[in-house]
Amino acid sequence: MDQTLIQNLLERCGCPVYVFEESVLSERISLLRNALPDGTGLCFAVKANPFIGRFIQDLADRFEICSPGEMYICEQQGLDAQKYVLSGVHKDEASMRYAFEHGLCSGILTAESVNQFELLVSLAAEYGQKIRVMPRLTNGSQFGMEAEEVIELIRRCGELKDRREGAVVFAGIHYFSGTQKTSLKKHRRELAMLDDFIDRIREETGTEVPELEYGPGFPAMYFEGEEFDESAYLEEFSTLLAGMRNRLPVTVELGRGIAASCGSFLSRVADVKCNHGENYAILDSGIHHLTYYGQFMAMKHPVCEIWPPREGAAEDEAWNLCGSLCTFNDLLVKKLPVHDLKVGDVIIFKNTGAYCMTEGISLFLSRDLPAVAWVKKNGEIRLLRHAQPVWGLNSGMQS
Ligand SMILES: Cc1ncc(COP(=O)(O)O)c(C=O)c1O
Repeated sequence: MDQTLIQNLLERCGCPVYVFEESVLSERISLLRNALPDGTGLCFAVKANPFIGRFIQDLADRFEICSPGEMYICEQQGLDAQKYVLSGVHKDEASMRYAFEHGLCSGILTAESVNQFELLVSLAAEYGQKIRVMPRLTNGSQFGMEAEEVIELIRRCGELKDRREGAVVFAGIHYFSGTQKTSLKKHRRELAMLDDFIDRIREETGTEVPELEYGPGFPAMYFEGEEFDESAYLEEFSTLLAGMRNRLPVTVELGRGIAASCGSFLSRVADVKCNHGENYAILDSGIHHLTYYGQFMAMKHPVCEIWPPREGAAEDEAWNLCGSLCTFNDLLVKKLPVHDLKVGDVIIFKNTGAYCMTEGISLFLSRDLPAVAWVKKNGEIRLLRHAQPVWGLNSGMQS
């Protein structure tokens, strides 16, 4: 981010503020598309950043939607429902009815349990709508189902695919086993397992799996000193994917791999002090606004910049960056080297475009939620959310 943009953001949006940059996001998507085998679909997991779907609706093939809230967000943003993958371990009847009644079931619906499948089958009949269902295979967690149950549901789809009122079509297999996966060995194992499973489905049901929707959990690098050769990683992953025995269409479902790099979080130093020989900077944000996957007791130094930029060397000065909450845990970074940190300086935390802004304990201490801004390719700033007071949610005075 150049100096003028930072200045403009602070003037226009105040601080703290989450910022997402269109140029970085679209370049990131192009990079992924170029790295993955030709024809691989790209699905954006909305949970990673619910603000940006509308800006990438032409760049992503699908949007994975994991809760009623995410569904309403995508609907409000005007995303094409044919691109929806309505997923989620808890699909309640009321919100699924909403989806059927509002034309939001024209994409893919995942089934994470036999009960979910039965709910979808009965709603499809009641609303007279054809649906395309992807059973989710479990990785041994609470998500998805056992292989035998998936196979049984595929058989059921075989019986229901031509049902006059509300056909239920088997659309493929959904699989996601975890995030921030740096191990290619794990991908190799998983893709081999999926290959075997696809063979087994063919042998036991005579059905060809039409598609695989696979969440590889590509990692994002958040901290200084992390060594990761992403281009070698993507190249090898693509070789593994292209080398699957079963040549079927694959859609790669990604959250942080798409969105992390486009985001920055700007937070101002509100106070400084030295207690028992330790420098403390109190920021106008904290762990309620910013969380990092893999951060441990604030020991790791997130990739960040100080604004205004520093000229002096920082080796002899270390700052503990603390938040505004009344808990000893509200430490964002320990011993960050910064020269001459002052009240009013701004810390620009980088790579915060995924999860960082939604995973915090936002209601604790009833502090405002930060503003959210979008920076268009031409540098124009669009305020997506004003800072939001949340104290009213905690006052118990709403009725
Ligand atoms: C089903 C599913 N798909 C995709 C994702 C996105 O994961 P990531 O951000 O690691 O790409 C998640 C994350 O929890 C998920 O649960």
